[in-house]
Amino acid sequence: MKKLLVILAAVCSLFILGGCGSAGSKPADAAKTAPAAAAKTAAVAAGSHKVLVTYFSWSGNTRKVAEAIKAQTGGDLFEIKTQNPYPTDYHACTDIAKKELNEKARPAVAAKADKLEQYDVIFVGYPIWWGDAPMVVYTFLEGSKLDGKTIVPFATSGGSGIETSVKNITKDLPKAKVAKGLLVRGQDELAPWLKELGLGK
Ligand SMILES: Cc1cc2nc3c(=O)[nH]c(=O)nc-3n(C[C@H](O)[C@H](O)[C@H](O)COP(=O)(O)O)c2cc1C
Repeated sequence: MKKLLVILAAVCSLFILGGCGSAGSKPADAAKTAPAAAAKTAAVAAGSHKVLVTYFSWSGNTRKVAEAIKAQTGGDLFEIKTQNPYPTDYHACTDIAKKELNEKARPAVAAKADKLEQYDVIFVGYPIWWGDAPMVVYTFLEGSKLDGKTIVPFATSGGSGIETSVKNITKDLPKAKVAKGLLVRGQDELAPWLKELGLGK
């Protein structure tokens, strides 16, 4: 499994760092994942929205997507960080991530997002780790006042889908409206998705 993760991560990094744009840059079979899970909210209610783009990123791919979403929505940006940073060594990181997943751990966040009450739409981005969101994303979500907010998940991965994490986030936040999530394989997917959500600039 570890070997597979290394290959998946390498493929994804090449792809995302390569510009994420053209159809030709899409990883062949690895990108063929199921469509995003059915979510409670297909689109964000009409009207103007104050947007916060939160994200966790270990090796930078999700950060790039978060920055693009910020640019396209005019939102603010917040990076979710663990109090104890994950090791920079890939294998050490996958070991810890697996243990945390198995234990349903809630690693402490370095900081909470400020003044969440001013936002009505909150994107949450993360890499897929062992098929799910990294556990620190759940620490962040559970520790934030998100009742009534629209939560929009997005993820990057080496090929795994976003479905499990969207399902878990939806279950974790019963009083929030969890919108249709997107596994971002190329930045050209962002504009149509944001338009579909009613959030394009
Ligand atoms: C701990 C760990 C676990 C991972 N698990 C998966 C996985 O289950 N499926 C997958 O497709 N990719 C997996 N990957 C690859 C990452 O999801 C992918 O490289 C992602 O784009 C990294 O995003 P980041 O640069 O924002 O950290 C894993 C990577 C790491 C470090």
